[in-house]
Amino acid sequence: MSSSRILKFRQTVWQYWKAHGRHDLPWRKTKDPYRILVSEVMLQQTQVPRVIEKYKEFLRKFPTVHALAKASLADVLKAWSGLGYNRRAKYLHDAAKAIIRDHERPYLSNAVVLDKYKGIGPYTASAVRVFAYNEPDMLIETNIRAAFIHHFYSSVLQKTAIADAALLPVVTEAAEGQDPRKWHWALMDYGAYLKRSGVRNNHRSAHYTKQSKFEGSLRQVRGTILRELHSGSKTALTLYSLIRANKRIAGKALEGLARDGLIVKEKRKPARPGWRIA
Ligand code: ADE
Repeated sequence: MSSSRILKFRQTVWQYWKAHGRHDLPWRKTKDPYRILVSEVMLQQTQVPRVIEKYKEFLRKFPTVHALAKASLADVLKAWSGLGYNRRAKYLHDAAKAIIRDHERPYLSNAVVLDKYKGIGPYTASAVRVFAYNEPDMLIETNIRAAFIHHFYSSVLQKTAIADAALLPVVTEAAEGQDPRKWHWALMDYGAYLKRSGVRNNHRSAHYTKQSKFEGSLRQVRGTILRELHSGSKTALTLYSLIRANKRIAGKALEGLARDGLIVKEKRKPARPGWRIA
């Protein structure tokens, strides 16, 4: 990539940041790796405005990695409710327990390797490295993709979708010499702005997945079932009548929640065992 294009891109991103950067986001006012971890897991599939209050509430309930590790899954899911993709809450909870088990002084050093924990991928581990420790690393998520594809690939005609690996050289070059924390905040804000302004290029990424209608309703039913179970265990039949979803979807939702370890069948053996939060 020509260096003048990189320079121009940086200039555009920084200018946007100076004029319109979101400096008030609560997770941008902390360097605590636990808080950053919580925010990144929440932000993975949920929009910023929906995350803000939930993030604050979650941290009031579980202010430290110790507090989260000690909590019950039911309490964690309750605090998560409304954010969707509840499996993320279990991953986060499991990671907190594992971190406490593995590290005598968790998080006091950035040597804690986060991506060995199930459900915490390389992106999230890198995000903690960047936002908590200001270490140089490459972050590629949806808004950052939008920014790079718009600037460097908008005129490229290609049949196959653009893989992150193909973006990486220019992402790396652009980040060189920039303050890692601020650079990534600026990139995310600029990418989000492009999307708000109507730039639609995510379908050109190889990592873009559109949720099907079926997946959408399945997700909703999963959420409804968990909400119902917060008030106590219930049989499948009771759940079916409460949630009024078609049986195929409701059955699949129960199956998926059990497979993900979010719900279990009650141990005692009445004629019709109930489901409860794991
Ligand atoms: N600031 C830090 N991480 C972020 C993210 N994933 N989305 C939006 N703003 C952020």
